[in-house]
Amino acid sequence: MKISTIKREWWKEGVVYQIYPRSFQDSNGDGIGDLRGIIQRLDYIASLGIDIVWLNPVYQSPNHDNGYDISDYQNIMDDFGSMEDFDEMLEGFHKRGIKVVMDLVVNHSSSEHKWFKESRSSRDNPYRDYYHWWPAENGTPPERWSFFDEEGSAWAFDEKTNAYYLHYFDKTQPDLNWENPKVREEIFDMMHFWFKKGIDGFRMDVITFISKHDGYPTFEGVHGDKMIDVYASGPRLHQYLHEMNREVLQHYDIMTVAEGPGTNLSNIHDLVDEDRQELNMNYHFEHVELGLDARKIVNSDHRNLVKFKKIMSDWATAFDQKGWGTQWHTNHDFPRQVSWFGDDTAEHREQSSKLLSTFLLTMRGTPYYYMGDEIGMTNAKFDSIDDYDDLMTINWYNLTMAEGGDAQKLLESHKLSGRDNARTPFQWDTSENAGFSSAKPWLKVTDNFKEINAAEQENRPDSPLNYFRELTQLRKDNLALIYGAYALLLAEDENIYAYTRTLDDEVILVLLNYSSSSHVAEIPNVLHNGDVLINNFDTLEKVDAGFSLLPWQAVVLKIK
Ligand code: GLC
Ligand code: CA
Repeated sequence: MKISTIKREWWKEGVVYQIYPRSFQDSNGDGIGDLRGIIQRLDYIASLGIDIVWLNPVYQSPNHDNGYDISDYQNIMDDFGSMEDFDEMLEGFHKRGIKVVMDLVVNHSSSEHKWFKESRSSRDNPYRDYYHWWPAENGTPPERWSFFDEEGSAWAFDEKTNAYYLHYFDKTQPDLNWENPKVREEIFDMMHFWFKKGIDGFRMDVITFISKHDGYPTFEGVHGDKMIDVYASGPRLHQYLHEMNREVLQHYDIMTVAEGPGTNLSNIHDLVDEDRQELNMNYHFEHVELGLDARKIVNSDHRNLVKFKKIMSDWATAFDQKGWGTQWHTNHDFPRQVSWFGDDTAEHREQSSKLLSTFLLTMRGTPYYYMGDEIGMTNAKFDSIDDYDDLMTINWYNLTMAEGGDAQKLLESHKLSGRDNARTPFQWDTSENAGFSSAKPWLKVTDNFKEINAAEQENRPDSPLNYFRELTQLRKDNLALIYGAYALLLAEDENIYAYTRTLDDEVILVLLNYSSSSHVAEIPNVLHNGDVLINNFDTLEKVDAGFSLLPWQAVVLKIK
């Protein structure tokens, strides 16, 4: 790879830090994180050396799905504050040189949105066609699977007009009808509103689902979550995104990233290649779904490093010539990185969490880093269904009970895989409620906050927090870590993940021991001599075949 041939972009070079506002910092003692809480923590966020913040939805919402059910796209949720707070927060980030990316949730709205209230009120209401309706006199609609529905169906019967409406997610999240040009126009206007305020981009929620198949055909033999691929292959997806680009995106210096269920290596270029003029980046799910069956039941592929490396390598090299990728381990929908990919026992927690951060920040693709991972926060591992807030776990638990299935097994799996694991309050210090709130938090604080918290790590030079700060600086100082070609070594090794990043004449070697015992990384001789750029241990043992790595050791070397 040659730097002279690469189109440099701020969104390729930046590190994204994701903030789940509900759980970051409560400023007014109601147990719910809010925008003024974020304002209080601006200096902390800036101290991490990150460049871009992605905020989960902060719009008006009845909160059935924590803000992913929006009832007013141009106002701030009461729990989170006001538009003045938002403006002050945005300014605070910009002053510190940090860009702000918002969530765009336009596959569906809330059932409380005025459009839906109108739409369901009568068949001839002007808003009727803002959503997808199936008249009941046509019989039962063709099968559609829902992610969250308590009965599993994406069609909900609405008595008032004797018709079914479509909801890929919860009943309270009816799908918007993108086939209707008026809907697109409303959405594009709303996007202009936020860009004119000065936001720097959008993360687009399940954007691959916006185009529906005409007439809602039956898809023989496609059931359950297999329907995701069908949902992502709507006939006009690319037409709508191109139109969005032309009408809105191209007029601003902003970034866009698709949340892309159903994206894979054969369809991804249509979405992100520059000449397509659609979106900049996408995130796929292949690596986080490795080891997961339906309803997030964990299977034996969890922690299969050889398969993991193959997935990561295929995606990292897919954008060698065109397009650009992303790297991430967790977000508000997936468990904590240290609990899922690392070892969260006291003995290995810090080193494994540092290793995982090293991976994300030395891979090719923009890193999306989830709040709290910088201090190595772990899964909550709730024992009881009563501790859960997330409608996904709760509805699947109820559905499993209703089917006479093994609900206990689901609970056990969700300790590892459930969404609430990453949604617990940020662990700031050892005070009550971990310094998150003076009141009882909306979701239980994980009980290890006395050992794992930002205050304790702040002044400890070898803490995960300070290590993360070194990593963000390292990435800034080495363009090879951003643009360099990626090449996998030791593809079949079950413990070591090793790769090089090469830009012009510079070669950087990354060695990661994904295991709780020592292993030798057998590396070609030409890569044996280098300067250590970062190491999560004080030592590095050189052996004839290469390097002997301690449990969860992570080392980055510049080859001489
Ligand atoms: C996305 C969000 C998730 C939400 C769903 C429906 O997957 O990340 O939190 O529940 O879309 O909007
Ligand atoms: Ca609050």
